[in-house]
Amino acid sequence: MELLEAWSQEQRDNYSKEIVVTKHRMEETGLFSDEALIRLLDKHPSHLIDFQYVESDPDYPDKQVTVDFSGADGATMMKVVKTNARVWINLREAMNVHPEYQKVYDQLLDELEEKTGKNKAMRNCRGGILISSKTAATPYHADPTTTLLWHIRGHKQAWVYPVTDEFLPDIEYEKIIIGEVDQDMPFSYAMDDGAILKPADLYGGEMVSWPHPSPHRVENRTFCVSMVMEFSTAESAFRNAGSFTNAWLRRRFSANPKPWAQTPILVKLLKVAMGRALQKMGTRKKFRRIDWVHYKLDMDVDGFIKTVTKPYKRVH
Ligand SMILES: [Fe+2]
Repeated sequence: MELLEAWSQEQRDNYSKEIVVTKHRMEETGLFSDEALIRLLDKHPSHLIDFQYVESDPDYPDKQVTVDFSGADGATMMKVVKTNARVWINLREAMNVHPEYQKVYDQLLDELEEKTGKNKAMRNCRGGILISSKTAATPYHADPTTTLLWHIRGHKQAWVYPVTDEFLPDIEYEKIIIGEVDQDMPFSYAMDDGAILKPADLYGGEMVSWPHPSPHRVENRTFCVSMVMEFSTAESAFRNAGSFTNAWLRRRFSANPKPWAQTPILVKLLKVAMGRALQKMGTRKKFRRIDWVHYKLDMDVDGFIKTVTKPYKRVH
């Protein structure tokens, strides 16, 4: 069985430059049913599982917070995500770690390379599986890598915004690159007016891709299962190394570098080389945020999630 439906020449030409939506048959592999996902949750290494509760915060309207799920089995986690509002589970690298998923993933990459005509960047890319409740939302954010959203089950709506200073200020993107924040950025609903995709209905069997690093956000309309593919390309690595240098200059020397888009190419090249060297030296670790646990799964409380008395660092 082929996993991807045919692409038009326009989709092929627009890939990575514009928003492209195409069709796929990932659900038919049987690897994304409730039963299969419960088995996967039971065997996936717990350090590669993120269980997140989406809480409300006026500055970051959909802030996500880590939940301690230690002691819970796959069936319990699935029950919580199916019945509690505003939680999602990310099984990071699930497509890379287990042979049955890896096999499907390899086939998907083969077919994707053939459809896009791009064949160098995608190998070594990571594929995570997202299981999210019917009112979960992924807040406004930008990913440092190129990401493709393979939606497999359920109905969501997605918004994608332009890569401009207004929507993606350098200073905010640098915080992501240097690791101070995960990916979240300040957002207000007024920004939806300038979105380049708004709001687009996504149903199981559709894949959406956008130009790197377009900010985007997603809101579920039903329980959803998706796969997110992440990889770096020469272009994303270039931009990220340059942004890393600017982030470092701001923090180390209180510098105020020129916006990246207006930086002359020779300066860009210099900053990229410097960023690569700094990353090799492990500078990012110094700025890395700490993952604090604020919530714990508890099947005895209403909604299954309780606040911990004193936040602690993630160890599960
Ligand atoms: Fe994303």
